[in-house]
Amino acid sequence: MSMNSNEVRCLIAGGAGCLGTNLARRLLDQGAHVDVVDNLSTGRQANVDRLSRHLNFDFIKMDITDPAICRQLQRRRYSHVYNLACPTGVPNIKRLGEQMLMASSAGTLNLLKIARRCKAKYLFASTAEAYGDPDVFPQHETYVGRVDPVGPRSAYEEGKRFGEALTRFWGGKYGVEVRIVRIFNTYGPAMSPKDQRVIPQMLTRLIAGHPVPIYGDGMQTRTFLHVDDLVSGLLIVVDKGVSGEVYNVGGDEQITVRDLFGAVKKATGLAGEAVFRDHFIDDHRGRWPDTTKLQALGWRPSISLEAGIRQSYQDLLRSLGIKQAGAAAGPAHRRDGSAPASGDRSQPGSP
Ligand SMILES: NC(=O)c1ccc[n+]([C@@H]2O[C@H](COP(=O)([O-])OP(=O)(O)OC[C@H]3O[C@@H](n4cnc5c(N)ncnc54)[C@H](O)[C@@H]3O)[C@@H](O)[C@H]2O)c1
Repeated sequence: MSMNSNEVRCLIAGGAGCLGTNLARRLLDQGAHVDVVDNLSTGRQANVDRLSRHLNFDFIKMDITDPAICRQLQRRRYSHVYNLACPTGVPNIKRLGEQMLMASSAGTLNLLKIARRCKAKYLFASTAEAYGDPDVFPQHETYVGRVDPVGPRSAYEEGKRFGEALTRFWGGKYGVEVRIVRIFNTYGPAMSPKDQRVIPQMLTRLIAGHPVPIYGDGMQTRTFLHVDDLVSGLLIVVDKGVSGEVYNVGGDEQITVRDLFGAVKKATGLAGEAVFRDHFIDDHRGRWPDTTKLQALGWRPSISLEAGIRQSYQDLLRSLGIKQAGAAAGPAHRRDGSAPASGDRSQPGSP
């Protein structure tokens, strides 16, 4: 699908991060104009440098919580505002909890104001953690969750829940076309080698020859989605979703952290040991998205976990400056074993 850069002008907050940079690349490849605003707190300059090769790309280093952002961007007109800006990573909650709360509240408000001025479509990236430690499986969008508002993870979880409430409220009160996506664990190229989330941590530690920590007994379950499938989901929600609605986006196969470790070793051929440790923070026993609502818009995940891990491994090797024969970070293969054809990265649901 091709776009006109005068008509499709996107602001991606958090575009220096893993998901934002992949979204930006997809939109740029399709011909959109993309501005990324990011304070580089958990994002990477290297991701911005790669995007900067595109003519229709601009980077603004700024914090979305700074009210000056509305003035700074006041001459720019956007058709779409994607709010992905928030520090991430459970180990970062202690250090960056206040920034998480402020990004999802003050930052969300600033970006909603920009969307309102521009009459842009607005997408808020929320999280599976909005469901807390769920007691219902799979989690449907109508499930209200089990969250401790003052628990150790609450800065991230309640921040996102507030961001959802503000997004929904503004959509109704000011007629801004808003959508909310609850993103479940997503991984893929452009992850930072410093990222402490489970897949990048397993990969970087195995690459370094260090033991891989598994917290608790490793029987907690997660689902994993490749970032290309995530980006397709976001674009479909923006294009075909209903204003004010919430959509889960995530992988459909549950896997324990123990089995994930085996899958990472198998996909990469790396050897290594796990060390079992007490969890440093309350862990959630499981997460599993009900994606019926998104699938009704035409979305289907297409990249297998094994192929996605292999591609992420190769990308991390490149980020770490490690050369390996045949390790170019090419496209991940689809579940049926075929590689996506060039131009096949787009989905019918792009904005
Ligand atoms: N990757 C996942 O599995 C996952 C799961 C659930 C939700 N999400 C959400 O999706 C979004 C993107 O996640 P990601 O995996 O790319 O994480 P990431 O940490 O790689 O990206 C987040 C980006 O936001 C930027 N940022 C943080 N605070 C900011 C601020 N105040 N102003 C400007 N920029 C700021 C960071 O520098 C970073 O580039 C986040 O909002 C995250 O909460 C991701």
